[in-house]
Amino acid sequence: MSSPTHKPDLPKDQDEKALDMALRPVRFDEYIGQEQTKKNLSILVGAARKRKDPLEHILIHGPSGLGKTTLAYIIAKEFGAGIRITSGTALEKAGDIGSILTGLNDGDFLFIDEVHRLNKAVEETLYPAMENYQLDIIIGKGTSAKTLQVALPRFTLIAATTRISLLANPFRSRFGAQYKLEFYTHGEMKEIIRRSAKLLDVPIDEAALDILAQASRFTPRIANRLLKRLRDFAQVKDHAMLSAAVAREALALLGIDELGLEITDRKILSTIAENFQGGPAGLKSIAAAIGEEDDTIEEVYEPYLMRLGFLTRTARGRMITDEARKHLGLATISRPTLL
Ligand code: ADE
Repeated sequence: MSSPTHKPDLPKDQDEKALDMALRPVRFDEYIGQEQTKKNLSILVGAARKRKDPLEHILIHGPSGLGKTTLAYIIAKEFGAGIRITSGTALEKAGDIGSILTGLNDGDFLFIDEVHRLNKAVEETLYPAMENYQLDIIIGKGTSAKTLQVALPRFTLIAATTRISLLANPFRSRFGAQYKLEFYTHGEMKEIIRRSAKLLDVPIDEAALDILAQASRFTPRIANRLLKRLRDFAQVKDHAMLSAAVAREALALLGIDELGLEITDRKILSTIAENFQGGPAGLKSIAAAIGEEDDTIEEVYEPYLMRLGFLTRTARGRMITDEARKHLGLATISRPTLL
């Protein structure tokens, strides 16, 4: 008999990718958090199934690691259809998307991750495909060019992005359903880690759950990664239980503090504080000062720093807050109050 939290067969070699797949929830009722999005998606799926219609195209946005891909797999499964996974960076030419679309079956899903990285030619090939299930193939060049129209299977596009503002309006408006994933609450993070620890057979106590949840940046992908590293640590050090002391020691060794800040987070904040007198500092200047890509700072580090209230964005650049200064042990500066 299967238990309510179904336990997948863990692969014998337990390599990282296989473990990640094993931890992924496969049904809505196993997926913790994002309650409003889940409710809306259930209605969308339920209505389309009743009408025997293909699902509307879906756009999911929000910071990375919150479960956009996982939701896409769940939707396809709940719909009883196949899913093909690709990403905005993998699709270079119109022909790349053309061959994927013609290879789909009726009712299938296509998931495009990092959809803001699609180039114009691929994006424009998607327009008639999304609207009329039609592929326009241009043959020849200049005045003698002809358009050949190929009928496509009725598919549903699920697109995910961390940068919704980079999507062109005509593209964005072609998605009938749009959802924003939010950072998880502390309580939800604890439940996600509890579930993963059970699946990995890692005994973990309540205090360690709290510590790990707090260090996971409200992000399940990070929680699962840290849990695996803590499991390694406990195993090597012969600790039968992941306790608070073990969790603290392992996180310190990884260079991760109690709020989940890593060396790059600290560098971003201390650079603004010290090189730019607390800001405002331009993103590119910060990136150059710490030797990191500006996109990475914006997509990977900033959302969490802003969520913590450690960093603010103004029209003139980024500023560090007093809370961040306190956390890093930097002197807070008193700014003159303007009368
Ligand atoms: N693993 C990763 N994300 C999850 C979620 N939202 N719920 C349950 N397990 C997860």
